[in-house]
Amino acid sequence: MNHKHTDFQTFSHQILSWYRANPRDLPWRGTEDPYKIWLSEIILQQTRVAQGLPYYNKFVESYPTVKDLALAREEEVLRLWQGLGYYSRARNLHSCAKTIWFEHGGKFPDTYQKLLKLKGVGTYTASAISSFAFGEAQAVVDGNVFRVLARYFGIETDIASPKAKKEFESLANQLISKDNPGEYNQAIMDFGSRQCVPQNPACGQCPLQTSCFAFNHNLVKNLPVKINKVKVKERHFHYYVIKCGEKWVWKKRGSGDIWEGLFDFPQVEKSTAEEISNFSIESVDPAQMQILPKNYRHILSHQRLNAVFSEVEIPMANYENLASWCQKQGFFLVEETQIEYLAKPKLIVNFLSDQGI
Ligand code: ADE
Repeated sequence: MNHKHTDFQTFSHQILSWYRANPRDLPWRGTEDPYKIWLSEIILQQTRVAQGLPYYNKFVESYPTVKDLALAREEEVLRLWQGLGYYSRARNLHSCAKTIWFEHGGKFPDTYQKLLKLKGVGTYTASAISSFAFGEAQAVVDGNVFRVLARYFGIETDIASPKAKKEFESLANQLISKDNPGEYNQAIMDFGSRQCVPQNPACGQCPLQTSCFAFNHNLVKNLPVKINKVKVKERHFHYYVIKCGEKWVWKKRGSGDIWEGLFDFPQVEKSTAEEISNFSIESVDPAQMQILPKNYRHILSHQRLNAVFSEVEIPMANYENLASWCQKQGFFLVEETQIEYLAKPKLIVNFLSDQGI
């Protein structure tokens, strides 16, 4: 790459004029409230705008200020987050709101450096908030920005490599408009998500075409370079759906694994789909457990989950036994009508929906 300062200015001007000609009205764009901007950016991490939008609206409605979020119950926050995945984001969100409310007197940190100290806020989010809310010239680098810069400037660095982030951030910080940093950041992300898209971008209609390295060298398909080294783990869960009258047995998931703080059922993890699970409930004959035929699959970023469910009906006469067993195991007996209020992983929501719940 060998570009002059004037090329940088041309690039920034073109990105801004494309954005001004192709505006998109998103609710968090009409505000300079750092709380709302932060909320939108945490929701939009690893989430597409179309999917994140209803969640943003729900959160702003339920928690209009950082105080409302700080004082909310964690379970309620997780319930509202249900379906978005990456639940540590929701827990960090809540814990951050508490820090801001209880330790910063409710005043949102107002510089890039201070924002970086918040839980769950990395360089991308700190740049987004500081530029959108406070006009600081800190360039965002997300997947869209990696792609746009790699193509336009012909950068072949593997974007999954440790050095890529620093290299792209340094370039992005030279490119950012010092007059309109927030608008420029929105513009380049939008340009990446709507014009310079991953597959089959419409280069014929792109205003940056003539100066784009990838277009001029027929490398649009090859850039950015991403060498995927992430190992994906297959996991097999056998869930036990234990019912007694109108009550179901639920388990709150602990730390150190996926879905911390969410509710699912007592479970045995197996190393293969075929392995027989060893699970026993006092006074229940295994023959009474009915394995449901449907196999559920759920894809997370580093794991592929396979789940089967066994149903067990416990007679009302054994309720007391069941209740004391649940207490020993740390399980919860939940009324069927209350299930909808539990924060649950998507896999469990899918299962319940097949059950008509
Ligand atoms: N994705 C992440 N942040 C965004 C924003 N502020 N606008 C549009 N898409 C985004």
